[in-house]
Amino acid sequence: MTIDIPMKPTFRFVALALLLGSHLLSAQDHSIKITKRYLNLPVSQAENRGTMQFRVNGKLERSFKIRLASGNPDYWVFCDMGALQGQTITISYDGKADGLPKISQDDHIVGEDSMYHERNRPQYHFTTRRGWINDPNGLIFYEGEYHLFYQHNPYEREWENMSWGHAVSKDMVHWQELPTALSPDSMGTMFSGSTVIDYENTAGFNKGNTPAMVAFFTVDNPEKQVQCMAYSLDKGRTWTKYSKNPLIDSKAKWNSKDTRDPRVFWYKPSKHWVMVLNERDGHSVYTSGNLKDWQFQSHLTGFWECPDLFELPVDGNKSKTKWVMYGASASYMIGSFDGKTFKPESGKHYYTTGSIYAAQTFTNMPETDPRRIQIGWGRVSHAGMPFNGMMLLPTELQLRTTKDGIRLTSRPVKEMEQLFSSIGKWSSLTEAEANAKLQSLPSPDQFRIKATIKLSHATSAGLSLFGQRILDYDMNSNLINGVFYSPEDMTSMEITADIYVDRTTVEVFIDHGAYSYSLQRKPDAQAKETLNFWGNRIEVKNLEIYNAESAWK
Ligand code: FRU
Repeated sequence: MTIDIPMKPTFRFVALALLLGSHLLSAQDHSIKITKRYLNLPVSQAENRGTMQFRVNGKLERSFKIRLASGNPDYWVFCDMGALQGQTITISYDGKADGLPKISQDDHIVGEDSMYHERNRPQYHFTTRRGWINDPNGLIFYEGEYHLFYQHNPYEREWENMSWGHAVSKDMVHWQELPTALSPDSMGTMFSGSTVIDYENTAGFNKGNTPAMVAFFTVDNPEKQVQCMAYSLDKGRTWTKYSKNPLIDSKAKWNSKDTRDPRVFWYKPSKHWVMVLNERDGHSVYTSGNLKDWQFQSHLTGFWECPDLFELPVDGNKSKTKWVMYGASASYMIGSFDGKTFKPESGKHYYTTGSIYAAQTFTNMPETDPRRIQIGWGRVSHAGMPFNGMMLLPTELQLRTTKDGIRLTSRPVKEMEQLFSSIGKWSSLTEAEANAKLQSLPSPDQFRIKATIKLSHATSAGLSLFGQRILDYDMNSNLINGVFYSPEDMTSMEITADIYVDRTTVEVFIDHGAYSYSLQRKPDAQAKETLNFWGNRIEVKNLEIYNAESAWK
């Protein structure tokens, strides 16, 4: 049942209203005229979730679940009211309503002064201002901007209310967050998907010379998951959902609710669109000429969630390419693709492990820069922060011929280099000498270290940060941080690691991206040393230390 405010005003509400100034929503105000950019809402993780609804002229404008704080909030979230200026909204809430009078409108977000510089905010990874993020969605480069859409709960730092958040960047390093791109509607919540630019106007959404950016996403509701689309004519800022959604409803065919995460791209040789969709036990391929009508073509079992499929040159040779079929856990197969069917030739393989999940690659890269750049969700939380989850560094994927066959490699994009300034570069150091050099780091919060370690008397060696083994190479068992790894030259006693440390996370790229992993920082409170190499009589053959600047100015 929904109880509309106003509720009985209590002394507490009135006192609070007097205390906090004029823009509070008092208990009598069940309606507010929107004159400011944001509505700030108090959240407490200890409260149960209730459903809050905004109505404009009696019409439902949004409906979401929130843990509205009745006492002291843990943190504040906000609604961007930019599109509703001058309109009057009516708020209802079916949860504990004591917090309603604390909802206020303002031109600032509560906590804006410290935004992006809070104690546990990563400084060169993307995180959202407030709320939860998971999968990157709709990664696309268009007219000089990289678009990062993402699974977002704007109203709490836990998963709920799935929407598409949106950020743009000119270099994949400095991001600007924009208003939510896709919000839940009467069909359900907005799950993962992708975007394309419809240059040929195959769907008929284009206007004049402006091609539509078209988003494909899964709508999830308690009963099923269906595939839908929306288009934008203003570079992803505002979206119109297609009136004849859904495009695909395949629950009955698969006898499963798990049908989701459409990945759409243009297949040039046959001039048609391809959609890779996870359906129950694998990735299906659908094709279309107009983005609206889709024909099922094939199904490849062995994958779960968040498909990606792309072509890459082998060893940089454009006349020798392979296709990569990809799943949410970062496992992949290598093979061929004729526009309808993917034929695996080898797999499954991995190139990265750890906190990464649901990674996706950018489409529509310019012909002059055909890099295949990937961003993955980092399943990392940040103690005490009003946000949760993060995006890992954008990495360039390549196919390299190795002794085991063709394999994916990944390395941070060159754009990241602008943040790192060299503190020093040394070679042929003993462990003690190398540890002395590590003292030159201005801050253990954020930095980068590149090191080549050579083992001779030790079977294991690595690097610890406040007692946490962020590099733990066990040559005897061929494990790096617990995962099997054997260098390209299997007789090698050396290992090279490019280590990116941010406030809450660590990403490590081994042997020029042959293998990588990411992990959450877990400092040991008892640790005696800040940062130290360990291993019996190891040689630190090369050591480079960099300071890392913040990407948030
Ligand atoms: C993967 C995933 C997707 C789904 C989304 C919902 O993390 O489960 O399959 O679309 O998250 O947030």
